[in-house]
Amino acid sequence: MLLLRDAHNRIIRDLRVSLTDRCNFRCFYCLPNGEPPLARKETILTFEEIERICEIFVSLGIEKIRLTGGEPMLRKDIEVLVEKLARLKVQSQSESQISNLKFQIIDSENRKSQIANRKSLDLALTTNGHTFPRRAANLKKAGLDRVTISLDSLRRERFREITGVDALENVFESIEAAKKYNLTPVKINCVLVRGRNDDEIVDFARFARERDVEMRFIEFMPLDAGGDWRRESIVTAREIRETINRAFPLHLKEKSRGAETAWRYSFADGAPGEIGIVAPVTEMFCGACSRIRLTADGQIRTCLFSTDEYNLRAFLRGGASRAEIVEFIQAVVLKKEARHSINDEKFAPASRSMSFIGG
Ligand code: GTP
Ligand code: 5AD
Ligand code: SF4
Repeated sequence: MLLLRDAHNRIIRDLRVSLTDRCNFRCFYCLPNGEPPLARKETILTFEEIERICEIFVSLGIEKIRLTGGEPMLRKDIEVLVEKLARLKVQSQSESQISNLKFQIIDSENRKSQIANRKSLDLALTTNGHTFPRRAANLKKAGLDRVTISLDSLRRERFREITGVDALENVFESIEAAKKYNLTPVKINCVLVRGRNDDEIVDFARFARERDVEMRFIEFMPLDAGGDWRRESIVTAREIRETINRAFPLHLKEKSRGAETAWRYSFADGAPGEIGIVAPVTEMFCGACSRIRLTADGQIRTCLFSTDEYNLRAFLRGGASRAEIVEFIQAVVLKKEARHSINDEKFAPASRSMSFIGG
């Protein structure tokens, strides 16, 4: 199978698809002043276009597709898209069967390990949890595998201050619904920001134990539309680790993060739940990055912090053939940045904020 390999010898396995740049929350670390001028409706990719692009990516070795936003649940009939994409799981399995056949002929150790490492497609969603509970059952039925839910405070009033919406209960219900419908492992994203929610680290760790979820703490990145990011606002991985360890000793699950973003910990006393620490600033993970992104209006982004993007929509709508699209994607992947430059003196902000890119 043709794989997507970048110029730094990283294989791209993880496609993140933003379905809309709209959001019904106003998180201060993301979209504090509401929506910027929306992309024109006709520029937003249709489900058929997304399906076509994803199918091609899967044939190029993508193993994980994550649907993001803005808030992806604002996209009408998202279940229909999930159902279309879930059909690609069959494709990715039969691709690996074909590879197996080829292996018998080629008989190379390299090929063998490639095939052994080949997984079926993993279909996930990141949501703010506002309208998720009543749609969880249908999403599962449509073929969604798992869900990540954002939650930045366990206190009702503070949650409202952070997000602009009084919806803490909905998020709790979302977590329960995700568990009920087996959209597991359920991951909870919490962006920690100094002076806003850093006093809740231990409460969140307790929450992970009580609810049996993977609680992931994320360092604040300069991707906020408001431009309020300051280095002093970051709560570092080290501080998070030490704070939790004092209350609930942690056990590092694996010494390497692989292509994942998080250090993952279990509780040393055997309690349920997990802690994940995502430290893009102080413990950068770009060296093993396997991610590529598609915006709602059909631009490929090779990095969260890209200052350029590549107009796949125009190419697709211009009538490009499958072979031409494959070639386009391969050429774009070769331009993937080695790393972000948040820690460099000359940091050039990304060309779009997180509400457009989707995490
Ligand atoms: P899975 O790992 O597929 O379960 O996805 P996930 O979205 O639940 O977790 P992931 O760790 O990929 O993303 C969690 C958060 O980490 C995102 O919301 C971003 O804040 C951050 N993040 C994700 N990918 C990247 C990346 O490529 N670069 C940087 N700098 N940060 C990232
Ligand atoms: N820094 C770090 N993570 C962010 N997210 C959004 N904005 C930022 C930021 N500035 C993450 C949140 C959310 C996901 C979609 O993106 O974790 O859950
Ligand atoms: Fe990958 Fe860019 Fe994120 Fe680094 S900052 S991990 S290169 S997407």
